[in-house]
Amino acid sequence: RLLVTGALSASLLLLVPASAAAGGPGRSPGDGAAPGAPGIGDPYYPASGNGGYDVSHYDLRLRYRPATDLLEGTATIIATALEDLTRFNLDFGLTVSEVRVNGREAAFTRSGDHELEVTPVTPLRKNRTVPVVVRYAGKPSELKIGGWTAWHRTPDGGVAAQEPASAVWWFPSNDHPLDKATFDISVAVPDGTQAISNGVLRSRSSRLGWTRWNWRSDRPQATYLATLAVGRFDITTDTTANGLPVLNAYSRDLGDNAGAARASVERTAEVVEWLEGVFGPYPFNALGGYVPNVPSGYALETQTRPFYSPRQFAAGANVSVVVHEMAHQWYGDSVSVKGWRDIWINEGFARYSQWLWSEKEGEGTAQELADHVYALRPADDPFWTVKPGDPGPDRQFDLAVYDRGALALQVLRNKIGDEDFFTVLRGWPAEYADGNASVGDFVAYAERISGRQLAALFDTWLYQPSKPALSPGAAAGA
Ligand code: ARG
Ligand code: ZN
Repeated sequence: RLLVTGALSASLLLLVPASAAAGGPGRSPGDGAAPGAPGIGDPYYPASGNGGYDVSHYDLRLRYRPATDLLEGTATIIATALEDLTRFNLDFGLTVSEVRVNGREAAFTRSGDHELEVTPVTPLRKNRTVPVVVRYAGKPSELKIGGWTAWHRTPDGGVAAQEPASAVWWFPSNDHPLDKATFDISVAVPDGTQAISNGVLRSRSSRLGWTRWNWRSDRPQATYLATLAVGRFDITTDTTANGLPVLNAYSRDLGDNAGAARASVERTAEVVEWLEGVFGPYPFNALGGYVPNVPSGYALETQTRPFYSPRQFAAGANVSVVVHEMAHQWYGDSVSVKGWRDIWINEGFARYSQWLWSEKEGEGTAQELADHVYALRPADDPFWTVKPGDPGPDRQFDLAVYDRGALALQVLRNKIGDEDFFTVLRGWPAEYADGNASVGDFVAYAERISGRQLAALFDTWLYQPSKPALSPGAAAGA
């Protein structure tokens, strides 16, 4: 893994175990309390997340200076001990000046490049819920983790939006999708600058030259889906037919892409209405999107309000990417992976929703698009060596997870028929709403709804490192 290059691969390195990960001594004799594990137990990223506690809420009160990229403030984390803890870890990279646990100053040390070890004065007893206050400051763009930074500094601000990790650049957390929590994110920026985040903009007020933006995301949210974008944005607001607030933000510096960005992201509410017809009720209480002036090319389903790079709109409007990111609100955000190896339950379905949109728009049916992907790639194409059901950390976002992943769904559709297939697509987000699920959970769910044995089908399409012998159309009859 050390040989791979490029931003994505580098981003993955940060989650590989830190040196001090083993835990060390710390069990105080006799009382049964022990240190929490420095990782939550994800085999793809052993240092990601932490053991021993569960967070229910993050309250971030921050200030950001675009001119210097200085981010400072306080995180208050409501955490419940899952075991008797002598100490516990948070995942974080910026400089910490003070930690308090239940009001009392706690000792802390750093290990690896993103572990913060906190030792409260007295052990935390199992089931105890306490506030953990972390005071911090730093320049996220200068923070290199695994030799890389997920923070985009822009001419007028900065942006945190990355997968599988971005939180460590801007707030301390239990950084794994297994530990979802609600968020209040309050950010002060110089008057005339905007701070965009998840959920509902509760209030905004200006004082002494600073405008404070108060955001609330009040459904469980994975840490990597929390976002912050500071810069000079034009904001549009609206209300959906169902009464939900829509808020979109566009950097004032999008140049040639400004029109196409608006022609796409302004259609978010329309896209959500259509997706509701496929997946059932929208799982959150706000929606939108934002387009900062970053040079990168990707998009990300940050909860309620996806991030879009301007390059997504370089060839004109791209409603399909809006369909993809908003589909993730059901598949990925409300229902999150149990571990990162389950990424297909996010990307396979988000891609398939784009195929359904194409079908509806008369631009090619899902079957035609599946046949196209199958025919396009000869058996010796490395595309077929990626197993969408377990791609490995280096191939987590490989095109095969998306395209072969969507192919698997077309094969399922052909096998169980449209009625059961769409019952599954709609039932799954309700069954696992606000929770976590694995690929195995999906296979079991589809078997339950359809009354069919589907293990062989999924084995062929998700788990074999080779091109399936039968085309997606023919496979259904087999
Ligand atoms: N979930 C994102 C999407 O498909 C993928 C972002 C992956 N890119 C990255 N640089 N890690 O919309
Ligand atoms: Zn995606």
